[in-house]
Amino acid sequence: MSTRSLQRIIRSTPASDGAGVRLLRSLGQSPFQRVDPFLMLDEISSDNPADYIAGFPSHPHRGFETVTYLLEGHMLHEDHLGNRGDLRSGGVQWMTAGRGIIHSEIPQQENGRLHGFQLWINLPAREKMKPASYRDIQPEEIPRVELSGGGLAKVISGMLEADGLTVQGPIQGLSTAPLFFDIRLPANGLFSHPVPATHNAFIYPYQGTLAIGASDTVRPLQTHEAGALSGGERIELRAGVAGAGFLLLAASPLHEPIHQWGPFVMNTQEEIDQAIRDYENGELV
Ligand code: FE2
Repeated sequence: MSTRSLQRIIRSTPASDGAGVRLLRSLGQSPFQRVDPFLMLDEISSDNPADYIAGFPSHPHRGFETVTYLLEGHMLHEDHLGNRGDLRSGGVQWMTAGRGIIHSEIPQQENGRLHGFQLWINLPAREKMKPASYRDIQPEEIPRVELSGGGLAKVISGMLEADGLTVQGPIQGLSTAPLFFDIRLPANGLFSHPVPATHNAFIYPYQGTLAIGASDTVRPLQTHEAGALSGGERIELRAGVAGAGFLLLAASPLHEPIHQWGPFVMNTQEEIDQAIRDYENGELV
């Protein structure tokens, strides 16, 4: 069974979005830094509320999904459909913008801390104009699997196979069939997992370092770097001496043209122009 190797490193860089939220952006800094169908990955990690408290006031999306995952802190959100919620620490909001959503996302500190991620996943052309929907997944709905060797895996989407067990995450039935795991490993801890050979995959350590694959000739992936992986049927990695916490993401690529204008991600420039017109005319949603 072929093991995936580290093919490309996308270092995160400081960015500012929404009403001045300071964050680290890896995927999505430019059109060349995507891993189809993943468009963007932002990490917010701060103990200074001034970095994030103004949040993301009312703004639109069309044509893709946003996945917000919080490790610390919580987030108030509200949308044009009348949904209001408070995404708790450890929870996930999986939002399908489809033809359009207008919402606000306002992070809240917890003991002074906020730490979380927002991932954008593209939708296939045939699904870009479907009605908007979202799911708030509470922390207790996310299976936690203790790994032999002392690690812990949280299964947000896809199927985790570990120690003869298979555990299904709460998000299922998406056409890109995403795997989304949050994994902690102790010092020098090993993790090995099958991935469909047709999926694209990347790894994002938010704590510690990771040696990817069987080769010792490639340097370890550092904290806050996204590591895009080669093809293969299996992911194998090893945490550094400080242990590691990382996101593992894999999904079926779309191989479709991408035209992006800020929060609109479509297949052609004409569709982007239409989205802008729809938004300006109050007809996005
Ligand atoms: Fe948003």
